[in-house]
Amino acid sequence: MEPETPPTASMGVTAALRQAAAPASPPEVPAIRAEGLVKTFPGVEAVRGLDLLVRPGEIFGLLGPNGAGKSTTVAMLCALIRPTCGGLWVAGHDVRTRPAAVRRSIGVVFQETTLDDRLTVEENLRVHAVLHGVPRRRARERVTAMLALTELADRRRSLVGTLSGGMRRRLEIVRGLLHGPRVLFLDEPTVGLDPHSRAEVWHHVHRMRRESGVTVLLTTHHLAEADHCDRLAILDRGRVVALGSPEGLRARIGRDSVRVRTDSPDRDARVLADALDVRPTVVEGQVVVQTGDGAAMLPRIVTALEGAVVSATVSQPSLDDVFAHYTGRSMRSPAAEGRTP
Ligand SMILES: Nc1ncnc2c1ncn2[C@@H]1O[C@H](COP(=O)(O)OP(=O)(O)OP(=O)(O)O)[C@@H](O)[C@H]1O
Ligand SMILES: [Mg+2]
Repeated sequence: MEPETPPTASMGVTAALRQAAAPASPPEVPAIRAEGLVKTFPGVEAVRGLDLLVRPGEIFGLLGPNGAGKSTTVAMLCALIRPTCGGLWVAGHDVRTRPAAVRRSIGVVFQETTLDDRLTVEENLRVHAVLHGVPRRRARERVTAMLALTELADRRRSLVGTLSGGMRRRLEIVRGLLHGPRVLFLDEPTVGLDPHSRAEVWHHVHRMRRESGVTVLLTTHHLAEADHCDRLAILDRGRVVALGSPEGLRARIGRDSVRVRTDSPDRDARVLADALDVRPTVVEGQVVVQTGDGAAMLPRIVTALEGAVVSATVSQPSLDDVFAHYTGRSMRSPAAEGRTP
């Protein structure tokens, strides 16, 4: 396919994104609602009674180990496979009775890449616009806006096969936004990327949400990435075992640890016990205080010890601790790659 004359940027990225977005539904309509969602394959209960409510404009994560049912859930949300039973609505449309309306309201980036390596960056975007019936003029504006959004404008004529892994993923994500969907599904958006490219992809996901107001539902089994989400559902063997903000999930299961290094840890532990009504312990030569809010406790400790603190760290329980709390297993352990028992 020959690229046409490069379109001129006749409107800003934000304006183009807003203009192309489908008319907003009343704010009370959830972006995604699932009630008792079940998907059974022969011999496998992949999703076993999932309840979800995702608000418009949220970045919502499904976190879980291999085989937890994340991709199966996304496939049902995209109306690609039918639920075995349960209710499912996307952008206010019932997925079972109005799959075409659902497909018009969503963008999807699958776990496996679907870019065409033999086409240029711009051609990949144009093919997508044609497939989604975006009118020609609007398609031009949208392609320009998407190229600017993903900072790939100078690579518009490069074959996709020549892009780095991070650039390809960014392109694929903005392509999912090209037709102005209300909800964007990203299945493992950063799998296989190095830490720098992962950070770039996240930067773009946040920017897209900010500028277009799109709701993003993504799946990941990277614990560190889950922190980018506004809220998370932790999935295990087809069920939601915990739901909340990353901070809320951590706070629910544990307390922060404040560790301070001083020259006389035993004496300083006693000072803190008297001054702050806490119960410090001394671990490996450091004074350790368990508390609900480590960031608030740290300055109080530093003040109470009157300059004796040499160094300090505050650590929260990890999301792996949260997963282990609810399942009795670590997400990192092979045993967590659960198949339905
Ligand atoms: N088409 C299918 N036919 C039979 N079983 C399937 C099918 N698709 C998925 N499954 C099974 O359903 C379960 C959930 O799979 P799914 O791909 O949804 O997991 P996932 O959470 O996306 O895992 P991963 O992190 O590895 O991508 C697995 O046991 C899988 O083998
Ligand atoms: Mg998957």
